[in-house]
Amino acid sequence: MTDRYSIVDFREMKKEKKQIAMLTAYDFPTAQLVDEAGVEIILVGDSLGMVVLGYEDTLSVTLDDMIHHSKAVVRGSKRSFVVVDMPFLTYHINEEEALRNAGRIMQETGAQGVKVEGGVEIIKAVRAITSAGIPVMGHLGLTPQSAGQLGGFKVQGKDPRVARKMIDDALALESAGAFSLVLECVPWQLARVITEKVSIPVIGIGAGKYCDGQVLVYHDVMGLFTGKRPKFVKQYVDARSEMVKGVQEYMKELKEGMFPAEQHTFTMTEEVLEEVLKE
Ligand code: KIV
Repeated sequence: MTDRYSIVDFREMKKEKKQIAMLTAYDFPTAQLVDEAGVEIILVGDSLGMVVLGYEDTLSVTLDDMIHHSKAVVRGSKRSFVVVDMPFLTYHINEEEALRNAGRIMQETGAQGVKVEGGVEIIKAVRAITSAGIPVMGHLGLTPQSAGQLGGFKVQGKDPRVARKMIDDALALESAGAFSLVLECVPWQLARVITEKVSIPVIGIGAGKYCDGQVLVYHDVMGLFTGKRPKFVKQYVDARSEMVKGVQEYMKELKEGMFPAEQHTFTMTEEVLEEVLKE
């Protein structure tokens, strides 16, 4: 069995200026193909809520949902480092609960790390989790779990006060032991400053090209999600159209009597059939 990527590899990649690729996956077959393609980090994001479970936002996603899907992703991957989003309110109440929930994710799924949204407000929780030896990835900028408080899904850090706080948050996460952080929907200049200021790898999404790596949602990349697509998304394949065509072709053949054909069918001898039909 080959080893999975580790946080040491990501630190090296930052030093060597090699881009880190991160993509979401929420199930076994997707994890298999993302892993096979060579993606270094798979994120079981709580975007699960929207792209897989059909919720409006990430707030309805539970710890049990995340654990259920993450187990399948870990089973489907061999090389990728699997990071699991800690859902809304599973790390905010107190440090003990944060550690207990992070511990459940690690023990029950076999994932390699957890991701949490926020800066200094959650730093005690981050410290408690990293102190137990669990790799933590931070998430700053547009943090969907607190989109209500941020005034919606908007670019973060255009205002100097917010930008300065984001820099402080990034430094606080680094000193609390986070191994990496995601910057979402941030002006590229600010992302560049943060990437240069911290020694841990910064993974961008809508944060320009000066980060140490990028993350996208699998369903956006493949064209599988029909909801609103943010400006920072690049769709690489129109898989949805191909899939609809596949379903239509199946229906057409079925209704025209072309499927199932002989090669899809099992047979029995006449003698056996006669035996079956005997009174
Ligand atoms: O939940 C998610 O998919 C995420 C990424 C967009 C970073 O947090």
